[in-house]
Amino acid sequence: MSEQKCPFHQTTTAGAPIADNQNSLTAGPRGPVLLQDYQLIEKLAHQNRERIPERVVHAKGWGAHGTFTVTHDISKYTRAKIFSEVGKQTQLITRFSTVAGELGAADAERDVRGFSVKFYTEEGNWDMVGNNTPVFFIRDPHKFPDFIHTQKRHPKTHLRSATAMWDYWSLSPEALHQVTILMSDRGIPVSPMHMDGFGSHTYSFINADNERFWVKFHFKTRQGKVNHSNAEAAKLIGETRESYQEALFGTIEAGQYPKWDLKVQIMPELDADTTRYNPFDLTKVWPHADYPLIPVGTMELNRNPDNYFMDIEQAAYSPSNIVPGIGFSPDKVLQARIFAYADAHRYRLGTHYEALPVNAPKCPANHYHADGSMRFFDNFKNPDAYYEPNSFGGPAQAPEYREPPLRISGDADRWNHREGNDDYTQAGNLFRLFDAGEQRRTCENVAGSMKGVPQFIINRALVHFDRIDPAYGAGIRKALSHGGDAKVQATRDLP
Ligand code: HEM
Repeated sequence: MSEQKCPFHQTTTAGAPIADNQNSLTAGPRGPVLLQDYQLIEKLAHQNRERIPERVVHAKGWGAHGTFTVTHDISKYTRAKIFSEVGKQTQLITRFSTVAGELGAADAERDVRGFSVKFYTEEGNWDMVGNNTPVFFIRDPHKFPDFIHTQKRHPKTHLRSATAMWDYWSLSPEALHQVTILMSDRGIPVSPMHMDGFGSHTYSFINADNERFWVKFHFKTRQGKVNHSNAEAAKLIGETRESYQEALFGTIEAGQYPKWDLKVQIMPELDADTTRYNPFDLTKVWPHADYPLIPVGTMELNRNPDNYFMDIEQAAYSPSNIVPGIGFSPDKVLQARIFAYADAHRYRLGTHYEALPVNAPKCPANHYHADGSMRFFDNFKNPDAYYEPNSFGGPAQAPEYREPPLRISGDADRWNHREGNDDYTQAGNLFRLFDAGEQRRTCENVAGSMKGVPQFIINRALVHFDRIDPAYGAGIRKALSHGGDAKVQATRDLP
C-alpha cells in the first residue's frame, strides 16, 4: 500500500487531528475536566514517561557524530575491516561524560571524563568505551560498586563525602596512580575537545594469519590539552553549568570540526609473560619507550545530533561490542565490563536497545532473539526460519570468524590482586614527570579534597603518598598545614 500524504497538522499518537491544543474538555467553562479528554490524558501520560533512569555512572554527557579516516596501514596487526586500507572512512558517534555527577551536574567539575566512541563498521559496531586517563582506580572488578558508592551521595546526608572517598582510596592504594592524574592539572579539561582519550584496558588485535597481539588505544587531541584550575572552574560554574555542551555544540555548529589522532601501542603476545609489570593490570601504563605509539587514523566530529535524547541519551556503549580482528584480554576489569554494560542497557533502555537508531549497526543484524518489549522491527527475512539450525535458509554461524584460542592457565581461586603488585612506582614516575608548579598544584588539590576528612584517614593516605614519592607526601602535608587543618603526622598503621 502506498504511503498516504497527510496534511501537516498536530495529531494524536494514533494520527488523528487535534482540533484544540490549548483548552481541556470540561463540563462548563469552570470545569471539572471530563475523563473523555483522552488527548489531555495522552499528553499527561507521556510527560510522566519522559524520563528514563540516568546512567548509574557517567550520567552527564555530551556527544556528536563524526568520521574516522585511516591514515596508516596496520593490517599486519589486525584484520578489522575498519582498518583495511588507508583513506577508508567509517561513521561514528561519540559521547563524553563525567563519572560521578548526576544528569544535571555542572560540566566543569574535577572528575575523570568518559570517552566513548561507537564505530559503525561493516562487520558490526565496535565500541571503544574509555576515559581521558590511561589507567583506572581499581584492578579487580569486585571493587567497582563500592568504589562508585564512595563517589556518589552519602545515604544519610545525601551529600558527596570526602571522608568516604579518602577512606576508600587510603585502603585501596592501587587507586593512587589514577588519583594523581585526577588531582593534577589534567583533572578539569576546559572542554571534551581539549583532552586525550584512552581505551585504558589491554585488548587484542588478531590479524589475517590468526596471530594475536595485545593493544592499547590512544586518542590524541589536536586541539591541545587545556585545563582549568580549581579557581577558574569555580568561577565558570557560577556563570554556566553547561560549559562543555556549549563548547562542543557551538564549535561543531560553527563548522570547526575537532579532531583526534588514533594511535596504538602493540605488544607481541608472548611479551606478556616477561614484562616487569602485569600488562593486563588496569592501574598500570605500558611505558612508551617499550611500546611506542603507532599512528593509525584520525577521528573528526562534524555533526551535532538533531535530537539529544535520541542520539546521546539513548546511546548504549559496551566493551562487549567488538568486531572481527579486535578481541579481549585477561584484564579482570575488562572481563566484568563485558557483562555489565549490555545488562545496564537492558535495564536503562529496554530489551531491544540495539534496535534503536543510534545503536543499530549499519550492517544487517541477523539474530534470532524474538518478541519482548520494543520489538518494532522484523529481521526474519523468511518467517519459517525463526529458530536455528533450520532448513529454510536462515542465517547461520560463520566459522571463518573464529578467534585463535586465548592462552590462559592457573587454578581457580580468589587471587589477592595486591600480592606482588607495585602500587607506587608508576604513580611516582608520573609525579616526578610534573614540573614544580604542577607538583605543587597537585598536592594542593589533594589537600583541598581532604577537607573535613578525619585525621586518621588522612594519615593513612599520607603513608601511601610518602611511598609514592617522599616529596609528594611532604607537599600534601605542607598544603594541608597552609589550609589550616589540624597538625598532620603520618603514621605507619596500614591495614
Ligand atoms: C558507563 C559499569 C569501569 C568507562 C558505565 C555504566 C555502567 C558501567 C553500568 C552505565 C552504562 C549505561 O547505562 O549506559 C562499569 C563497571 C566497571 C567500569 C562494572 C568496572 C568493573 C570502567 C572503566 C572505564 C569506564 C575502567 C574506562 C576505561 C565508562 C564510560 C561510560 C561508562 C565512558 C559512559 C558510556 C557512555 O558514554 O554512555 N560503566 N564501568 N568504566 N563507563 Fe564504566
